[in-house]
Amino acid sequence: MRIDSRQAVQLLNSGGVVALPTETVYGLAASLKFPEAIEKVFSLKGRPADNPLIIHVAMIDQLIPYVKKRPPHFENLAQKFWPGALTLVLEANQEAVPDSVRAGLPTVAVRIPAHPETRQVLLETGALVMPSANLSGRPSATTAQHVIDDFGNAVPVLDGGDCLRGIESTILIYRELRWVIARQGAITPEELEKIIGYSPSMIKGSSKPLCPGQLYRHYSPKTILKPLDKEKEGVVVGFSDRSYPIASAVYALGKLSEPEAVAGNLYAVLRKLDTDGIAEAYIDWDFPEKGLWKTIRERLEKASSK
Ligand code: TXA
Ligand code: MG
Repeated sequence: MRIDSRQAVQLLNSGGVVALPTETVYGLAASLKFPEAIEKVFSLKGRPADNPLIIHVAMIDQLIPYVKKRPPHFENLAQKFWPGALTLVLEANQEAVPDSVRAGLPTVAVRIPAHPETRQVLLETGALVMPSANLSGRPSATTAQHVIDDFGNAVPVLDGGDCLRGIESTILIYRELRWVIARQGAITPEELEKIIGYSPSMIKGSSKPLCPGQLYRHYSPKTILKPLDKEKEGVVVGFSDRSYPIASAVYALGKLSEPEAVAGNLYAVLRKLDTDGIAEAYIDWDFPEKGLWKTIRERLEKASSK
């Protein structure tokens, strides 16, 4: 069911759960004032309780009750990237941020999203938790239809069109006197370095995760994804400016010259493999290693691992 922003505000302010558009991916929103709505977000997604949620607000001032300290460069990062696709993990005011939102951690993740309609909603609701609006483990939703495909009528959706970036926010956490990347995302390390003066290192999946939630399967279609094999006929996930002579079908992510567009199409392509009932597909891994391509590579790796 599609709703307008007035209905979204009403539902959220009376303890309901709705899906809202952001510039990254659609989010499954619940107000921080309603613990039972937050519980419903976990149960609707099938999300394990040890995977914490991001708090979204419309303006920095709305964060004051929830966070304790502002680490070095906080102001610069906020000024440069908010509203936008950056999430910051900060020391939480544990009385104000429910345990369930933090999954018991002493920290809280916060972001100001850039979608105009959702910012308007946030001004009228106050802080909302918003995990990506997909069933746990599945590719994120970048259109209202994707949300409806996952949740049917159980979740009313504010249709704000296709998500501009189509890939989740980059998550930064400050520890041992440096910002480190807890999740690669739409903002690149190169962009962050310009603000903080050093290239933030990446917390690798193989090292100890920040929270258990990061160990779970992510972004996966039902389709089994294998590396492209030039000898084998089959469905290829590749690029529209490259040819695949023996492919039986090509699911194009976009042009190699346009990583932003590839990131934007990624989840729609992974979801289409499923809706088309494709059992197996070959990924063309031959693409660049830097900037946004790193995030795209990481998502495809997670999507391929079962
Ligand atoms: O772009 C986005 O960030 C989207 C849109 C809707 O804003 N939201 C999103 O939420 O991707 P979700 O729940 O799908 O992913 C949030 C990630 C999870 O990997 C979770 O483990 C991590 O943020 N996270 C949340 N709180 C954290 C914390 N206190 N410390 C470390 N990681 C945290
Ligand atoms: Mg998610």
